[in-house]
Amino acid sequence: MSDTGSRGNNEQVSIIVPTYNESQNILAILKSIEQNLPKNKPVETIVVDDNSPDGTGSIVEEYINTVKKAAGYTIGVIRRKAKEGLSSAILKGIESSKGQTIVVMDSDRSHPPDIIPKMVDTLDNSECDIVVASRYVKGGAVSGWSVKRKLISKVATKIAQHGLGVGQKDPLSGFFAFKRNILDGLKLDAIGYKMLLEILVKTKGVRVKEIPYTFTNRMQGESKLGTPVVFDYIRSVWKLYRYGTLQRRQEKRASVRFLSKAARFYTVGASGLVVNYLMSLLFATEIASLWYLHANVVGIMSSMTTNFVLNKIWTFEDRNFVPRRTLTQYGKFVGFSSIGALIQLGFVFYLVENYSLMYPQALILAVLVAAFGNFILNKKLTFKENLLD
Ligand code: GDD
Ligand code: MN
Repeated sequence: MSDTGSRGNNEQVSIIVPTYNESQNILAILKSIEQNLPKNKPVETIVVDDNSPDGTGSIVEEYINTVKKAAGYTIGVIRRKAKEGLSSAILKGIESSKGQTIVVMDSDRSHPPDIIPKMVDTLDNSECDIVVASRYVKGGAVSGWSVKRKLISKVATKIAQHGLGVGQKDPLSGFFAFKRNILDGLKLDAIGYKMLLEILVKTKGVRVKEIPYTFTNRMQGESKLGTPVVFDYIRSVWKLYRYGTLQRRQEKRASVRFLSKAARFYTVGASGLVVNYLMSLLFATEIASLWYLHANVVGIMSSMTTNFVLNKIWTFEDRNFVPRRTLTQYGKFVGFSSIGALIQLGFVFYLVENYSLMYPQALILAVLVAAFGNFILNKKLTFKENLLD
């Protein structure tokens, strides 16, 4: 979703609590959260209720309006018209929240609020972006589940780990906290129950930590995890799997594109050597009988110009020849060529002196390295492309 973006306040913590028919649990969980608030931070709890027939939404509203809250603490409720599913409720809550730190938890008291301060602390201090409250790391546990439910959970977890390559022990946890900005630019499908899994798959390079807790099966009300949720799970794993393959394919395409441009750049460079050589000879003899150094200057300038034109048209496929723009590009190109020459000189010196490489070999290496540096500079600064396009 687009507007989960980082508009939040740095200190603020938002706790998202989805509810569906939790009239017997909601007050207890709200009280318990309030007794376990992270210290010295403004905190808001946002309940997202899907028009629960048992009146959960009204109970929360009444509680908000009548009970005094701790300093720096607020509770809000979003009442949606219909039951749209757990993940979509969580997403809705995130969108309406203002915290830079988001905590997500169930409302049926399966998730103990007393570890929330530790989760928030871990985000603050130990340099990670997602904290998963985990049943399956050392010290974690599940209490009160049937063998069947345990088995379903284990199988679903294995599918996520092996099918999607997720490294965490409990990627299906419904209890987690994260820094809001990791969602920037992500589009979440929010199908079914697996919000955390989708976040883990779609955020790259973020650091995740798991901390143990004991999941206690609900005492009141009933689980909404039925057959439709299982089907939703399969559907969302499939979608995430496709997302992964697509992503890998695009990355591959990007690197192929990059390499083919580098290859064109080298080819143009080689053609430049020929132009340089021929022009230098030609101007020293046939045409102008210039002094050989002057002829060489003509040679260098000719090859820089043909290199520039070929790279513009062919390597970077830039057909815009508006004079100002073209001249600026030409200026930069010539400038970078001189930098390239310096890199080349330095590198030859370095290789010969430090690695006692023979001059010809050193020269070849140096030309390749300098041309590559040149390629990068021109790609980025002369033709203003992203490095990987
Ligand atoms: N707003 C809203 N809309 N809330 C919902 C909906 C919905 O459609 N469906 C469920 N919830 C709320 C419930 O009220 C509860 O607070 C929470 O989401 C979890 O629902 P449960 O029905 O209690 O799920 P569970 O205990 O079987 O599953 C839990 O454990 C799983 C781990 O095995 C959840 O935490 C899952 O997210 C978790 O994967
Ligand atoms: Mn539950």
